[in-house]
Amino acid sequence: MEQRPPKNHLATTSEKFDKLQKLNEQALLGGGEGRIARQHEKGKLTARERIELLVDEGTFEEIGKLVVHRSSDFGLDKEKYLGDGVVTGYGNVNGRLVYVFSQDFTVFGGSLSETFAEKIVKIMDLAMKNGAPVIGLNDSGGARIQEGVVSLAGYADIFYRNTRASGVVPQISAIMGPCAGGAVYSPAITDFILMVEDTSYMFVTGPNVVKTVTQEDVTSEELGGASTHSTKSGVTHFSCTNEVECINNIKQLLSYMPQNCEDEAPAVSYQPSDEKRPALDKVLPNNPNQPYDMREVVAEIADEGSFMEVHKNYAENIIVGFARIGGRSIGVVGNQPASLAGVLDINSSTKAARFVRFCDSFNIPLLVLVDVPGFLPGTDQEWHGIINHGAKLLYAFSEATVPRVTVITRKAYGGAYDVMNSKHIGADMNFAWPTAEIAVMGAKGAAEIIFKGEIAKASDSAAKLDEKVAEYTNRFANPYEATARGYIDEVIMPHNTRVKVMKAFEMLKNKVDTLPRKKHGNIPL
Ligand code: HXC
Repeated sequence: MEQRPPKNHLATTSEKFDKLQKLNEQALLGGGEGRIARQHEKGKLTARERIELLVDEGTFEEIGKLVVHRSSDFGLDKEKYLGDGVVTGYGNVNGRLVYVFSQDFTVFGGSLSETFAEKIVKIMDLAMKNGAPVIGLNDSGGARIQEGVVSLAGYADIFYRNTRASGVVPQISAIMGPCAGGAVYSPAITDFILMVEDTSYMFVTGPNVVKTVTQEDVTSEELGGASTHSTKSGVTHFSCTNEVECINNIKQLLSYMPQNCEDEAPAVSYQPSDEKRPALDKVLPNNPNQPYDMREVVAEIADEGSFMEVHKNYAENIIVGFARIGGRSIGVVGNQPASLAGVLDINSSTKAARFVRFCDSFNIPLLVLVDVPGFLPGTDQEWHGIINHGAKLLYAFSEATVPRVTVITRKAYGGAYDVMNSKHIGADMNFAWPTAEIAVMGAKGAAEIIFKGEIAKASDSAAKLDEKVAEYTNRFANPYEATARGYIDEVIMPHNTRVKVMKAFEMLKNKVDTLPRKKHGNIPL
C-alpha cells in the first residue's frame, strides 16, 4: 500500500519530480500488464511497440501521454488509464518527420472516446500546419460504447480532418486489429490502407448483424479480413503477413513520397551506367495475342529493385506502383496482358484512377505502359457502370499536371488508347515500340465489320477474312499512322526505353502546368 502523506503536507520539489516519473511510467503500461500479455498472446504488438518499430530510434516525442477520459457513466469514473487508449506524437522515419497515432487495444479495446479523438485531432492539425504525413496504426473496438454520442462526434472530427488533409499531406492507415462500424471511414479517406493477415479486419457491420439482416453465415475473416479486402473489395492496398512487414511497408511507401503537396519526393543517389536494356527486345511474344508480364517491362525501365507494387492482388489486369528512375520517384501505371489480356474494366479503372490522383496530388511524375485491347464488353460491366467508372481514369489522367510519359508496347485500341495517357489528354512525351498497334479496334473485329459483305459473298469466306485482316493489320496495326500525325513523339527500340524515359523525365522536371481556376472538378464518382 502506498503511504499517503498527511493532509497539510506540501510536496517538495523532489516529490513533484518523482510524481512525474511515476505518472510517465504508469502511462507506459496502458491497460496493464495482464492485457499487454493478452495482446502478445494474440500475436499482436502493443501500440508503443508498433511506434518503436516505425520511427527512427529515439526520435518519438509523445503528446498527450497523461490525458484521461472525462466520462463518469457506467462506472467509467473508476476506470481511467493514462493516455486513454491512444498513443500520439511525432518522430522521424528515415530522418523525415511524421505524425503518428497508435491505438492501444489494452485500454477499453482501443475504443474511441471524446479525449481519444481529441488527441488524434491534435496531431492531425499539427501535421496539416507543418506539412508532414500522418500515420494511423488502428486497433480498436470502435466507438467507446459507454460514452455514446460524444464518441460519434469524435469520429466525425477525425473524418473531417482526413478530408481536409487529403491532397495536402500523405495519410497512411495500418489496420492491425479490429476496425468496425463507422471507424472504417477514417482509413477509407486516407491514401493507403495496409492490413495484417489473420489479426485484422474491417467491416461496416460485423458477422452478427449480417446474419440478422441477410441470413448469411460469414466469419470476420471472410467478411473483412486482409485477403478479402486485398483481392475482392480493393479496400486495402497491401496485405501483410505480419505486423513487422506491415510497418516496413509503411516506411518503404513513405520513401517515395514528398512530405506534403508543396514538396518534392526525396531522390536517392544514383550512379549513371549503360542504360540500354536488351532484355526488353525479347519481352514480347511473336504472337500478338499471347500474354506477357508487364512487370518485366517495369523492372527493366525502373532503377533495379525499386518497384513497389500497390494493390497487387486486386484488379490484376492493371498494375500500379511506385518506382524510381535515375534515383527519382515515379508512379507507374501499366496494362497487364498477363491478366484478362490487360483489358480495362470497372475495377482496374478505379484502381488506376485513384493511384494517378495520389501521384498528381503529391508531385510524383507518371510513367504509363500501354498494352490494352479496349474496355471489357458485357452486361455485367455495363450494368455496373463501366461508363462512369472508366471515365474516372480518363478524368484522372486528363486533370494530372505532373510530368507524364507514355510507352505503347503493343495494343492501344479504341477508347482505351485515348484513356491510357494519350497525347490528346495531356501526356508530355509519348513513345511507341515498333510492335505497337494503335487503331480503333483489333484487326479481326475491324475486318469483320467493314468487309462484311465482301466476306459473305466470297467462295472461301475464311480465306477472305484472313486476307482482309492482313490488309487492315498492315494499314493500321502499327505505330506509324499515329506517329505521322505527331500523336507519338518517337518510335523507339525496346532496349532504348529506359534511356528515353529517363531523358524525358529529366527534360520535364521543371514542368509547370495549372488547371483552369475552379473550386474543384466533379470527377464521376
Ligand atoms: C468500450 C470496449 C469496446 C467498446 C471492446 N471493449 N470494445 N469497451 N467500448 N467499443 C473492451 C472490452 O469490454 C474488454 O474490456 C476489452 O475492450 C477487450 O475486448 P474483448 O471483447 O475482450 O476483446 P476481443 O475478444 O478481442 O474482441 C474485440 C472486439 C469486441 C471484437 C472488438 O470487443 C467487440 O465486438 N467490441 C464491440 C465492437 C462494437 O460494437 N463497437 C461499436 C461499433 S459502433 P476488458 O475490461 O474486459 O479488458 C461504432 C460507431 C462508430 O463504432 C461510428 C463512427 C461514425
